[in-house]
Amino acid sequence: MALRTIVLEGDSCLTKVCRPVTAFNGRLHQLLDDMAETLADANGAGLAAPQVGILRRVCLVLDEANECYLELVNPEIIKTEGKQSGLEGCLSVPGKFAVVERPNIVRVRAQDRDGNWFEAEAQGLTARAFCHEIEHLDGHLFVEHVDHFLTEDEIEEYLKEHGEE
Ligand code: NI
Repeated sequence: MALRTIVLEGDSCLTKVCRPVTAFNGRLHQLLDDMAETLADANGAGLAAPQVGILRRVCLVLDEANECYLELVNPEIIKTEGKQSGLEGCLSVPGKFAVVERPNIVRVRAQDRDGNWFEAEAQGLTARAFCHEIEHLDGHLFVEHVDHFLTEDEIEEYLKEHGEE
């Protein structure tokens, strides 16, 4: 495994529509393993392949128990329910945080690293991460939903009111 470099806002990799994965081979497994190591190192809730410069429909999302990363290959959102507002950031947009509205419950359909289709449903932070990461695969960043980034004081106040996530 190896750490990969996370590209930052302004890099053209982050604005491209990624291509589907068609080969479920060792190269894909290496990418997923490297992304997991990179995400753990950055202490993030999710990471999409374009963030490490790979324009393929692959992402990782921290599960609801905060125990493991769900590997999503060629994921699509098939159901959403309700609404939630929460603090959101992105490893490619360091230091910027904003309150973003997302569905509260999100169900996705995806393939695993061997190409088997499965469905997963989550709420809260994991549901938020499903939306955020899958948007990356279509070349979109969370900042497109934002008209006000929180100041450091506002972040502190927000976390005091809502607890750490
Ligand atoms: Ni992101």
